[in-house]
Amino acid sequence: MCEFKDNTSCEHIPVLTEQIAERLSVPQDAVVVDATVGHGGHSLLFGEKLGPGGTIIGLDVDEKSLTRAQTALCDLECEVILVRSNFADLPDVLADEGYSKVDLIFADIGFCSAQLNDPKRGFSFQQNMPLDMRLDDRLKVTAEQIVNDYEEKELADLIFKYGDERGSRRIARYIAEFRKTQRIKSTLQLANVICKALNKFPSPGRRIHPATKTFQALRIAVNDELGCLEELLEAAPALLNKNGLIAVISFHSLEDRIVKNNFRENKRLQTYEILTKKPINPTDEEISRNPRARSSKMRIARRI
Ligand SMILES: C[S@@+](CC[C@H](N)C(=O)[O-])C[C@H]1O[C@@H](n2cnc3c(N)ncnc32)[C@H](O)[C@@H]1O
Repeated sequence: MCEFKDNTSCEHIPVLTEQIAERLSVPQDAVVVDATVGHGGHSLLFGEKLGPGGTIIGLDVDEKSLTRAQTALCDLECEVILVRSNFADLPDVLADEGYSKVDLIFADIGFCSAQLNDPKRGFSFQQNMPLDMRLDDRLKVTAEQIVNDYEEKELADLIFKYGDERGSRRIARYIAEFRKTQRIKSTLQLANVICKALNKFPSPGRRIHPATKTFQALRIAVNDELGCLEELLEAAPALLNKNGLIAVISFHSLEDRIVKNNFRENKRLQTYEILTKKPINPTDEEISRNPRARSSKMRIARRI
């Protein structure tokens, strides 16, 4: 493991690598889009299969991720183009770089381990951090603004819709009560309010922290994660060459449902053949090596 100047550990273990190597083969001169290049772990796998005529176009909204990807990918033979962009804007990125079609669009949605541990990001309820949650620091609205400025009902709906949290109304009520006296500014403050609302507290025997679902909901809202995924999926058929592949790894059911429905709709339109009748899951061995892989699911489709 290495340390970067920002003191966050850079170890991010790419998930489902064996299944990707088996299922996502591309010609040596392929153009591969890694829509979430992160630390470049998956791109490195693709890049090692490409020759000098191949290209990887890596996108990420996070400047720090791109710096790490650059270091990881600098020895590849193929061309590597890294762009700070939201994958929702993939059509514009490709047009700017002079590409109309590509052979693989790959996305590994969510966040990297370093982002979770970054003290400035505010994703973690294990450490005290400012309540931010923006993957892209150019975004205007932070989790602090949502938590403190949304109406109680709006907040409850958001926590229910994006977190599937059955205690959403109680949590919103406790938040609304707390913020009458002071703004909720840190992750631990918020986590404590949630624990009190649910009357559940973290303990060694409890595998999932009581604040997990609420934090997920806020992260999804701050980064418009589902909207961006929908835009990427809607754009993809027009950007793929015939026989080109699209593969998406998601980490929760809301994302997976969007991918599943989009692939089904494209099958109905005869634009895709679905190559994964059921999503590809990690093996027990991978989960024990990398617990973060536990909830990963990959779906693959082929452009007809
Ligand atoms: C799970 S990590 C990807 C890890 C990468 N596959 C690797 O092996 O290193 C997800 C990355 O996607 C980025 N990301 C999340 N949403 C994005 C979006 N809408 N557009 C572009 N990048 C995004 C995050 O900043 C993060 O760096």
